[in-house]
Amino acid sequence: MTAHSVEYIRYRIPEQQSAEFLAAYTRAAAQLAAAPQCVDYELARCEEDFEHFILRITWTSTEDHLEGFRKSELFAGFLAEIRPYTGTIEEMRHYKPTTVRGTGASVATLYAWAGGTEAFARLAEVFYDKVLKDDLLAPVFAALAPEHAEHVALWFGEVFGGPSVCPETQGGPATWSPSSPRGGAPMVRNITEAQRRRWVNLIQDAADEAGLPTDAEFRSAFLAYVEWGTRLAVHFSGPDAKPPAEQPAPRWTWGAAPPHRP
Ligand code: HEM
Repeated sequence: MTAHSVEYIRYRIPEQQSAEFLAAYTRAAAQLAAAPQCVDYELARCEEDFEHFILRITWTSTEDHLEGFRKSELFAGFLAEIRPYTGTIEEMRHYKPTTVRGTGASVATLYAWAGGTEAFARLAEVFYDKVLKDDLLAPVFAALAPEHAEHVALWFGEVFGGPSVCPETQGGPATWSPSSPRGGAPMVRNITEAQRRRWVNLIQDAADEAGLPTDAEFRSAFLAYVEWGTRLAVHFSGPDAKPPAEQPAPRWTWGAAPPHRP
């Protein structure tokens, strides 16, 4: 659970002062942008009643706000800009986010964008065909279980926003992970960098052949996960790695590139 705290400051600004108020906050915002305690901030104006403004600031924690930012030089600069308006504050309090949060469906999941379960099934099938013919990887997968490709397809689907499908718990948090498929002892030992890189190359070849979308945004997000996952796999297969703690499947989403809108 995050320690983040959300501060809401509600202002009532007479119409004739609103331009000045916005200009002052535009300058003051530079101090928030520079504050290591500040996660993000947004000043919104009421559509129904123009005199109402709400500033929302997410802090790394309430304590970081009060003991860190408030005692810093940045706060002095911030306050200097907005001091004329402090008398118009109607509420200024910290709120703790609850578990009721989420995103809507305005942006497709990577799973849906890729083409859903069938797309990842095709991907895994083509991929393991290649793996078994590959000089570096075939030896690692010598004892491949028949259901392996299907499991990996389900895993990819879940990571990219598809249904939760861990077969052991039927919908509970998945405990498979690349390095430790069932959350227990790692199944692969001492994966080399050359093997990892081959895995990365082959999955991209497989993505092409399986007809996964080729747009820049999808592929950059896809590759980011593959880089992350394979590097973890190498780490946990190493001689000194402690077995990873059981964790739900990571949820991967669009990267910094602007997502396509279907
Ligand atoms: C993003 C990267 C990766 C993902 C998502 C992934 C996913 C998985 C999953 C879900 C399993 C469990 C399959 C099952 O229980 O049937 C598994 C097992 C396995 N993985 Fe990975 N993996 C990744 C990287 C790697 C790499 C880089 C290697 C080695 C070069 C590797 C080698 C293996 C092996 C040998 C098994 C056990 C195979 C068996 O079922 O006998 N994996 N992986």
